Formats: sequence, structure tokens, C-alpha cells
Amino acid sequence: DFKNNFVSHKGFNLIRGTHDLEEVDAIYNYDIRDSDVFVVTYPKSGTIWMQQILRLIEAKGDMTSEELNFDQVPWIELPGKGKKFEEAPSPRMRVTHLPYHLMPRALSQKKGKVIYVARNPKDVLVSYYHFHKFATMLETPKDFNHFFERFIRGDVYGNSWFDHLKTWYSHEDHMQLFFITYEEMIQDLLTSVRRISTFLGKDLTDAQLAHVVTLSTFQNMRVIPQANYEMVPDDLLNHHNGTFMRKGTIGDWKNHFTVAQSEAFDRVFQKEMKDFPVSFVWD
Ligand code: PPS
Repeated sequence: DFKNNFVSHKGFNLIRGTHDLEEVDAIYNYDIRDSDVFVVTYPKSGTIWMQQILRLIEAKGDMTSEELNFDQVPWIELPGKGKKFEEAPSPRMRVTHLPYHLMPRALSQKKGKVIYVARNPKDVLVSYYHFHKFATMLETPKDFNHFFERFIRGDVYGNSWFDHLKTWYSHEDHMQLFFITYEEMIQDLLTSVRRISTFLGKDLTDAQLAHVVTLSTFQNMRVIPQANYEMVPDDLLNHHNGTFMRKGTIGDWKNHFTVAQSEAFDRVFQKEMKDFPVSFVWD
């Protein structure tokens, strides 16, 4: 049963055998520096893409360091990273899928910066379905429809896509929050990168920005070993069954959803998001 895959902790599914409850709980009380940057995403929404962009902005477009993105911009909720976080030199850049209530409370005193990346949940669902076949720590779903139902119920790591986004966004007035969508990044990566570097207070020349963009395209990230996750050991990712850099497109849900599934999803979306203050460009 896939439910054995998770430990429900303070209303959030943690992955059994992967997350350490005490380490996750420690995050709430971390001291936050103004230079800290957190990329917050629901899984499969552009996390590793933003990891690459942050690393490159920090290095002004230079990719010569061999350090893996996984180590340079780690997940704050993964074991061992917590201790490193408190001692790490600035700027501390981290990614996370955690919900608002498990993240450092200092964020709500406008300490540190938060970049929230959202993606069309239909494409998230498809990407996540394929990821479950590939990631060793997640149980392979029976079939697409079974996973579809699970995703809508929030029976996955990340819980409900709707709750994740709505809760984070509802605190935007109290945080230094930059909100962007995967779709905006696909449509205009240069403008997206420029806006992100402005938010981070980084002054890059046009040539440096161009480097960041070139090295962050799907085609290039695919073959950059620091960025493409092929270096992650087989006991975590079964590289025969998939890849992080799968398709990198908008609208792949149309190749997976039936008309009935799409309509059912739209009904849930409309109900859940009717009061959400941002309108999205995806269809
Ligand atoms: S995870 O496991 O939550 O950290 O995954 P995450 O990185 O959030 O999402 C993975 C999807 O992002 C796509 N991706 C990109 N798309 C476009 N351009 C670039 N540079 C890029 N890098 C990663 C990746 O292909 C996954 O989406 P799918 O639809 O599965 O291809």
C-alpha cells in the first residue's frame, strides 16, 4: 500500500526512510539571514531548473565549478542538510517542498527571500507520475488513473497541490516573496532570469544574464553533469526507469489525460482556486 510510503507529520506526508522527523522539526526555529534564499515548490514544478538558475546567478553565469547543484542548492528537508544549514556560509540557497507551517517562522518577519515556482498542476501530475517510476523512495503507481486519483486527494509527497500553493501565497504580505510560474519561464527565460536576479539584488551584465539563460535551457541542462542529476546514485534514482530531464514542456498532460479526467480536474481546480488572486496563463 502506497500509504506505507509516508509518515503523516503535522498534517504533511514525509517519506518514510528518507526524511528525519527531528531534522524537519528543527527547521522551524532556524535563524534566518537576510541573504538566505529559499526556492519553494510543489514537487515537479521547476525545482531543479531554479536550482541551476540560482547557482548561475550567484556565479554570474560561470559554470566551471564541478560542485553538483544538489550540494550547492540542497533540499533543506533532506537528512544531514540541516546541520550544514546552520553552519553554512552566506548566501545559503536552499530548495524545499515543505509547506509554509514547517518552514522557518522567521520568514514571516521578512527575513530571507522566498521564490515560489508554480506549474500547471495537470503537467505536475504527469511529471510526478513518471517520477514515481524512477525515484526509488516512492512506490511505483499501479497505473495512471490510480495516480490521478491519489494526486487529486493529495495522497502524495507534497500533499494537495492546491493547499500548498494557496497557503504559501496567503502569507505573501509577510514575506519577501517572488512568485513565478514554470510557464512564464518557458515562454520568456531571459525576462524571468532578469526578474529573479533583480529580486535577489544581483547586478549582472547583459552578457552574464545571457550565459545564465543559455546554461539553463532544457537542452543544455540535460547534458550538464552538475545539473542533470545523472550523478545521483542508483539506490536513490533508478536511472533505467527515467530521468529528471524528461520532457521540459508545457501541455504534456494532453498526451495522458482522458477528456473525462481533464473535465474532472477542471472542476476541482475551479472549486479550489476560485478565490485565488492570481490568474494563470496555462490552459
Ligand atoms: S522535483 O523532483 O520536485 O525536484 O522535480 P522538479 O525539478 O520540480 O521538476 C522536474 C520537471 O522540471 C523539468 N525541467 C525543466 N523544464 C524546462 N527547462 C528546464 N531547464 C528544466 N529543468 C527541469 C523536468 O523536465 C521535469 O518536468 P517533466 O514534465 O517531467 O519533463
